[in-house]
Amino acid sequence: MQISFVAPSSDVTAGAWVVGAAAPNGSGAALLPGAVRADKASGGALTRALKVSKFTGKAGQFVEVLAPGGLKVSRLLLVGLGKPQEVDEKGLETLGAQIAGRLYAGGETAATLDIDVPKDAKVEKAELAAHLAFGARLKSYKFDKYRTRDLDAYEKKLATLRVMTPDVAAARKAHAGLQAVADGIFLARDLVNEPPNILYPAEFARRARAALTKLGVKVEILGEAEMKKQGFGALLGVGQGSARESQLVVMQWNGGPSSKNKSKGKPIALVGKGVCFDSGGLSIKTGGGMMGMKGDMAGAAAVTGTMLALAARKAKVNAVGVIGLVENMPGGNATRPDDVLKSLSGQTIEVLNTDAEGRLVLADALTYTQRRFAPKFVIDLATLTGAIVATLGFEHAGVFSNNDELVSRIQAAGRYTGERVWQLPLDPFYDRMIKSKIADMKNIGGANSGAITAAQFLKRFIEKDTAWAHLDIAGVAWQDGEQKPMIPSWGTGWGVRLLNRLVIENYEN
Ligand code: BES
Ligand code: MN
Ligand code: ZN
Repeated sequence: MQISFVAPSSDVTAGAWVVGAAAPNGSGAALLPGAVRADKASGGALTRALKVSKFTGKAGQFVEVLAPGGLKVSRLLLVGLGKPQEVDEKGLETLGAQIAGRLYAGGETAATLDIDVPKDAKVEKAELAAHLAFGARLKSYKFDKYRTRDLDAYEKKLATLRVMTPDVAAARKAHAGLQAVADGIFLARDLVNEPPNILYPAEFARRARAALTKLGVKVEILGEAEMKKQGFGALLGVGQGSARESQLVVMQWNGGPSSKNKSKGKPIALVGKGVCFDSGGLSIKTGGGMMGMKGDMAGAAAVTGTMLALAARKAKVNAVGVIGLVENMPGGNATRPDDVLKSLSGQTIEVLNTDAEGRLVLADALTYTQRRFAPKFVIDLATLTGAIVATLGFEHAGVFSNNDELVSRIQAAGRYTGERVWQLPLDPFYDRMIKSKIADMKNIGGANSGAITAAQFLKRFIEKDTAWAHLDIAGVAWQDGEQKPMIPSWGTGWGVRLLNRLVIENYEN
């Protein structure tokens, strides 16, 4: 979809003319200036349609007039923006996505958004235009590469979207940053959606390198021989039942102060769980429980997508992304329940359930990241536990942290983007649940509080006072039920927007 920003000029003469109405307190729909013009130009078609509709201007409501008399446009689409005081970036993105969805359903090929900022709204004109466009862009995502039949039914015909705004230059600038974020989200979605016979660790690593190197990100790939030499016993223990080679990918974006500046040059660090398929290993999952486990690399996908977004918009920050890529499979050489692994940190782990593998991968990735980069903070993302899904469902990711300031920054970014997080506790009591009879720890807690004991496990690999937050994204990384407006695919790309926003609000300049 081609998106452009244009100054409001004369009437629209082709495609869909999309206009807005607000819902000021209690008083029904109030047409915004663009809608008033469209109404006049069509000889009152909108006011007539309004009279016979239930439209009140609420956010997400629509009135559509097809082939309006006296106009050359294919349709007039009136959209509700809701209460002016409540119009914000997140809401506008949702609206942009809903508009695109309507136009896709109608088979429209071109559209012009002619939507003004309602009086008393919290956003600038350029922001409104850019975020509407961003929402529409997110809705344009498709993952159809494996379909060979009925392609028409899946086609999204809307090829051009023009957005009218009085401040074209500012809108283009705001949109350029968001376009970079959309590219990162699309990369993350692609990686999550790919089937596991195609996207195994080495292929993931290749794709990360291909997408990021050309943007100026330094990408290193460590294979099994190198990791063995360095002592990645926990990560390698997960991958050793698989025919596919495990990989560690290290991505560095240096858009901030020189690393010679000891404190200011410190990078922020993102670490991702990249289990390209989680069969459970010898503690094998059921058939049903295994479905969707191609998405068990969504943490790694979010980290890779964020690195792309930061680089594509040339963010003024130093950031490292480290992802541990493995396949968790049963096999003659697979790790057994009862095995003891020696992690890169030196700590030993009694593996009592090979399906609690994500924490083993993260343990070594976290140690490596801290020892090599001494980051300002580290955030890990992982589809770590079914327990977090049982706890928070699909609306929030769980956040666990040793640093309250970092948590409130993540929460703020979550409120802005709509990728929300909910904090859960860490406590020595839960830590005692992973004591092992023979090693430094075991890799499972008890029957209860599974998301927390998993986080306690990770905490044992956080060194000294490194600020750290763990995001358990098992409930938000993919969607099996109802589709969210901005997410037209199974893989959501969750985390890219959140982390990008976290950087913008706190770690640039
Ligand atoms: N990848 C799974 C967690 C998961 C489950 C993500 C469902 C998304 C949906 C993880 O590796 C796992 O299997 N965790 C086990 C841990 C248990 C064996 C302690 C779980 O949650 O059941
Ligand atoms: Mn597992
Ligand atoms: Zn897993």
